[in-house]
Amino acid sequence: NLILNNAKTIGVLVPNIGNPFFSSFIAGIQRVSREFEYLPFNFSGSNDPELENYYMKRLISRGADGMIIASSTITSETLNDTLKKNAIPYLLMDQSPLSDGDQVRTNDTLGGKLVADHLLELGHRNITIVMPENATDNILYRVKGFKAEIVAQDAQKVCHVTTIYRPLTKKGGFESAQAVVDSQATAVFAINDEMAIGLYRGLTQLGYQIPTDVSVIGYDGIDLDEYVSPALTTIQQPISRMGELATELLINRINNPRIEQQVVELPVRLIQRSSTTAPK
Ligand code: RIB
Repeated sequence: NLILNNAKTIGVLVPNIGNPFFSSFIAGIQRVSREFEYLPFNFSGSNDPELENYYMKRLISRGADGMIIASSTITSETLNDTLKKNAIPYLLMDQSPLSDGDQVRTNDTLGGKLVADHLLELGHRNITIVMPENATDNILYRVKGFKAEIVAQDAQKVCHVTTIYRPLTKKGGFESAQAVVDSQATAVFAINDEMAIGLYRGLTQLGYQIPTDVSVIGYDGIDLDEYVSPALTTIQQPISRMGELATELLINRINNPRIEQQVVELPVRLIQRSSTTAPK
């Protein structure tokens, strides 16, 4: 306890600790925290604003030196009433809808465009997006980038894009399989890799083969992508680097409270594996 009281601490709030995206993100946070002799406390808000608020208040009353918030449900009120009021340095990540204070982001618009480029180049014209309803802003940018590129390249208006809404989980992906089949898509853009992996199982159970019957592309670049069969084509975000950078910027802010707003946008890239091919 004595040691804990002396250590400098960072509170980390993620939306879903079950998603490997957030394990890699936290691994990055741990690496840099250790280097700078900080101790990270990680909490998963499970997309429940009340729970997030609870963790945040507890962390602050325990004297956290700063907060990394990678959750979508953070509101301006919470920021003002808890963090700002107590002058706690914070950094907003990824899913946050607010453009307040220091931030680390990736280029989701570009990511969506890369998906469209890849599928169009393979010859797909009938594409289904699988995504959650009430998606976070970063996901909406992904979709926007995708659709804008389709429109830009589809002068003849032959492309058909369908959207299926399911929760942002493996189960959500799994449960979208029948609707995907019904949509008659030759390719699916699963808005994250977890959904793609759930969809794999759903399509396989229905007797469909990936990529011969339908191509699947995910988004994130989680480590599982290389271990599923076929290995998943995806848009890779530099996930653990995002965690490292978030920690570096936050510690910089803790040490220099008056510096200007720090906003860094990291690049994304297409990793082509075996789950996408030309339509039959
Ligand atoms: O898989 C988790 C998703 O939530 C990612 O796509 C990431 O960008 C985060 O918003």
